[in-house]
Amino acid sequence: MKQYTEMTKAELLEEREKVQAHYDALKAQGLSLNMARGKPSKQQLDMVSDILDVLRPDSDFNSDGIDARNYGNLEGLPACRKLFADLLGVKPENIFVGGSASLQMMYDTIAKCYTHGRVNSDKPWARLDKVKWLCPAPGYDRHFTISESFGMEMITVPMTSEGPDMDVVEELIRDEDVRGMWCVPKYSNPDGIIYSAETIRRIASMKPAAKDFLLMWDNAYIVHEFFGDYVPFPDILSECAKYGNADMVFEFASTSKITFPGAGVSVFACSEHNMEYTKKLLNAQVISYDKVNQLRHVRYFKDKDGVLAKMKLHASILGPKFRCVLDNLDREIAPLGIAHWEKPNGGYFVSVNTMPGIARATWQLCKEAGLTMTGAGATFPYGKDPQDSNMRVAPSLPPIEQLEQAMDIYCSSMKLAALNKLLAE
Ligand SMILES: Cc1ncc(COP(=O)(O)O)c(C=O)c1O
Repeated sequence: MKQYTEMTKAELLEEREKVQAHYDALKAQGLSLNMARGKPSKQQLDMVSDILDVLRPDSDFNSDGIDARNYGNLEGLPACRKLFADLLGVKPENIFVGGSASLQMMYDTIAKCYTHGRVNSDKPWARLDKVKWLCPAPGYDRHFTISESFGMEMITVPMTSEGPDMDVVEELIRDEDVRGMWCVPKYSNPDGIIYSAETIRRIASMKPAAKDFLLMWDNAYIVHEFFGDYVPFPDILSECAKYGNADMVFEFASTSKITFPGAGVSVFACSEHNMEYTKKLLNAQVISYDKVNQLRHVRYFKDKDGVLAKMKLHASILGPKFRCVLDNLDREIAPLGIAHWEKPNGGYFVSVNTMPGIARATWQLCKEAGLTMTGAGATFPYGKDPQDSNMRVAPSLPPIEQLEQAMDIYCSSMKLAALNKLLAE
């Protein structure tokens, strides 16, 4: 098969007729499919639902002498702090166990910067004329939504295969208005990239002009391999401390994609100094979080090995779905030269970069044929992808038979969008 860009006009027209006929046949089936959000499937949720049997009315609710059902221990049950400390490779005293969503804690961490300032701020950020924020992109749309909701000026930093382009970052942080940066360091959303050791070293050793610079280290996919074994990952807290930056970073994680999204346990990890300061602020906000759920998670998993064993079972469901997406792309799209993509071993997404200028058109064609995809542009600040190229594919939710149909629609839509563009030029 010739690449599309090498075809003559007559060949393009002939190919379009073929692709259009296939697309029309798919559309006529009136399907309703969804590859938009990284949600675990019903099968995955069923697999962990026995966590609900762990605690019963006659259970022992004591953990280290603490009755999990009562107020107290704002920072979380010691056993739960220990579990997450082992997962993140930090000390239990660096862990704060919060509610059921890490995103809410991220929002709250930034909100506190605006209302109260950071440990080392001169004044709350609400009193600053301007707050600029570094957004490696493609990135997680909800991070960008948080930044936008606070009126930050978002600055796009290109992603490389090793993480954010650090030459660009090191230049930008010389501006004192640049107060922070989003990072998803392991199986980044959406690229599925693992930041390299050198990128991590350069991030941990940054010397930003803003002394209250905040590194938001969202380790949402720390144990989320779907191909191969668990890959150990460096602890950012000690990395930052090594370079005198202990207070620069807040790390986040949750069990949203280990147990239940919206009903799991989330944490942040930070320096002792940050912990003391943040706890004082949180004390005005909440008496204690849901320690019953924390206890449920501790009893269910017991330890890090227990979590990793469960992640192997998630992988046995997710792996074939990612294989399906990647095989379809390799077979249908790769020979045409109209897109390239990462081949992740973990996380929840495949990030596809189409030839410039066809992501929105592809999305629209998918929609018209009954397939909902993440909005084109969503992976960039302000929803604006300058190349109109990046598309996030989320294969986890649909059963595999539906995924085959969805990929058929997706690949046909992309081909059609590419042919239309090339023929219009
Ligand atoms: C990078 C990243 N962070 C955070 C979240 C949400 O986490 P939580 O459910 O703990 O709020 C997601 C969900 O897709 C994500 O991809």
